[in-house]
Amino acid sequence: AEDGYDLWLRYKPVEPKLRAAYAPLTRNIVIAESPTLDAARTELQRGIGGMLSAQLPVSETATDGSVLIGTPKSSRLIADLRLPLTGLGREGFVIESARLAGHDVTVIAANDDVGALYGTFALLRRMQTGQLLDHLAMREAPASGLRLLNHWDNLDRTVERGYAGFSLWDWHKLPQWRDPRYTDYARANASVGINGTVLTNVNANAQVLTPLYLKKVAALADTFRPWGIRVYLTARFSAPIEIGHLKTADPLAPEVRAWWRAKADEIYRVVPDFGGLLVKANSEGQPGPQEYGRSHADGANMLADAMAPHGGTVIWRAFVYNAKPGEDRAKQAYEEFHPLDGQFRPNVMLQVKNGPIDFQPREPFHPLFGQMPKTPVVLEVQITKEYLGFATHLAYLGTMWEEVLRADTCSPKCGTPVSRTIAGMAGVSNIGADRNWTGSQFDQANWYAFGRLAWNHDIAARDIAEEWARMTWSNNDSVVKPVVGMMMQSRQAVVNYMTPLGLHHLMATDHHYGPSPWVNNLKREDWNPTYFHRADAKGIGFDRTSTGSNAVSQYAPPVRDCFARLNCVSDDDLLWFHHVPWTYRMRSGRTLWDELVGRYDLGVQQVHDMRRTWDSLRSRIDDERFQQVDAFLGIQEEEAQWWRDASVAYFQSISKRPLPKGSKTPA
Ligand code: GCU
Repeated sequence: AEDGYDLWLRYKPVEPKLRAAYAPLTRNIVIAESPTLDAARTELQRGIGGMLSAQLPVSETATDGSVLIGTPKSSRLIADLRLPLTGLGREGFVIESARLAGHDVTVIAANDDVGALYGTFALLRRMQTGQLLDHLAMREAPASGLRLLNHWDNLDRTVERGYAGFSLWDWHKLPQWRDPRYTDYARANASVGINGTVLTNVNANAQVLTPLYLKKVAALADTFRPWGIRVYLTARFSAPIEIGHLKTADPLAPEVRAWWRAKADEIYRVVPDFGGLLVKANSEGQPGPQEYGRSHADGANMLADAMAPHGGTVIWRAFVYNAKPGEDRAKQAYEEFHPLDGQFRPNVMLQVKNGPIDFQPREPFHPLFGQMPKTPVVLEVQITKEYLGFATHLAYLGTMWEEVLRADTCSPKCGTPVSRTIAGMAGVSNIGADRNWTGSQFDQANWYAFGRLAWNHDIAARDIAEEWARMTWSNNDSVVKPVVGMMMQSRQAVVNYMTPLGLHHLMATDHHYGPSPWVNNLKREDWNPTYFHRADAKGIGFDRTSTGSNAVSQYAPPVRDCFARLNCVSDDDLLWFHHVPWTYRMRSGRTLWDELVGRYDLGVQQVHDMRRTWDSLRSRIDDERFQQVDAFLGIQEEEAQWWRDASVAYFQSISKRPLPKGSKTPA
C-alpha cells in the first residue's frame, strides 16, 4: 500500500528512456565488506532492484558498467585511480565516471566507509530525480560535522510535541528485540547525511542513564552504527541525586564530579562511540548549576571533563528564560551566555534555537549567532511543528531554515550569514511510530530538508523541495511543479493566518494549537500572548528598540540599526521590534490595521489555493496518499479561517477600526 512508509526512498521503476540510460552504467558492483559498505551495497541493490527491476551482482573485477564503491584502503582499484580525496574528511565523497583498464565504470570513493555510503545515496538520488549518470564529476563534503536529530521522546513512549504517534523506541522490548524499523530509520537518516541522534527528551528524567537502559541504548547504537549514526542522550543535571543517591548535584562538589566520571566510563563501556550528552539546565523548571550558585559554564565544563577522556561532547542548550515582570524574555539567552564565551571546555557546544523566543512561525535570527566566536555553536531548529499547526497543517520549513541560515549576522563583519557561524545543526524530530513516520505525508519533507540543509547550508529550499517532490510523489513535471509551488508558499501562509507582520506567541496555552491572542492571566507574564503583542487603543507590537526593551542592542551594530529603524526593518519583523500605531503607513500604502487584516485574509486564501492545486493532482497521485493530504488541507483551511476570524475579531475589539473594504473576514 502507498501509505508513505518508504519515505523518499521509494525506488519506483523509472521511465523506459532513463532505464535505457542507467542500465549500461549499473551492471555490477565492486565493493569490499564491512558493516558500512554492506549497508551501501544493500541500499544500491535495493535501489537498482526497484528502479531498473534488475539485480546488481557483486563482482571481484571491474567491467563496463561496474559501480566501484569504497576507499583507497578497502579497494586496490580505487587506490590506483588516485582520486582527489584530500580535504573531504571522513564523510565527504567523490563520484566520477572513469576509465579503468579499458572499461567505463562509475566510482564512488571516500576516505572512510561512511563517505562511500553517503556517496551511494547521492548516486541513488540522482537516479530518483531523473538525472543522467554519465560524465559524473561530483565532489561533496558536509558543511558541518554535527547533523543531529533531537528526539523529545520519553521512556514511556510519549513524545513531547510529537504529532506522529508514539516513540519509535520500544524500550520494553529492547535490547533483545530490535525492530527492523530501526534500520529503516537509520537508512532514511543516512540518506540525507544525519549523523547523530539524541534518543531522549530534553525534559526527560535520569532513568535512561541507569545500567538497565544503557543496555537498550547500546542495542540501538549497534543498529545505527553501520549507517554512520552515533547515539547521544539527554543528561538531567540532577541525575547524581536521582539515580546516584548523592545529596547534591553541585558541579564543583568532588563526589558529583566523580559520579559523572564513573557514569561516562560506564556509558562508553557499552557504547564505545557514544556521541555525547545534551543538557537543558535552569530552563523551564529543569535543574541546573545555578541552583548551587554556579554558572552554565561550571555545569557544562564539569560534564565535559567527564566526557573528554572518551572523546565525548557536551551539548549545552541556550534556551533559558525566566523574565521578571517588565523584562523582555527575548533578551535572556544572550544576557546569560554572551559573557561566558571563552569559558567553555573545547568539547562543549552551545545549542541555540534559530530565534530568541521559541520556534515561532517566523522569528528574526538569534543574537547569539556570530557573537560567541570562541564557542562552537549549534543551530537548533524544530522539525516538529509545535507552533505551526502540528501534523495537519501543510508547512514546508525548508524556507524558514534557509531564511535563518542566510541571515547576515554582520559579526565579525557584514557578509557573515548564520550558516558561516555554526558548527552543526540540531533538529527537534517530528518522527514517531505512525506508518508514515511524521504524521503527514508533507511533514516528511521537513525531515528531509533538515538533513539536506545540515549537510549543505547553501542549497536552496526550492531545490530541496523539488528533489523531495520527485522522490516522494513523481518525476513528472506536471506533479513536481504544482507540489513545489504549494510547498514554497506554505510556511508564509501559516505566518499570514497565525502571526503576520512579526507578531508571535499568540497560540493557545500549553498545547499551542489554535489562536488565543486574548490570554493574559497565565502564571508567568512571559507566557501571555498579550505580553507579546501589546495591542492597545493606539497600536500594536513589542517595542524592542531603545525606547522599549532595547533587545535590538544585542545584535551587531548594522543589524541593530536596521531592526531599530522603521524605514529599514522588514514588514515581516515589524511588530517583533516596534510598537506602531494602527494608522501607520505600510510600504504597501495601506494602514497597519488594513495590512494586518489583509495578511490574515491572504493566509486563508493561500490555503484555499493549495487545496485547489492539490485537487488538480487527483488523477496523478495514488489514492491513499492523495486522500490523506486532501483531508488535511480541508482541516487546514477550516483552521486558517478560525485563526483569522478569532484574531481579527479580537484585535478589532482593541483597535475599534472597521474592516478594510473587500476583506473576507466576517464582520
Ligand atoms: C518549547 C516547548 C517545550 C520544550 C521547550 C524546549 O517551550 O513548548 O515543550 O520543552 O521548548 O525547547 O526545551
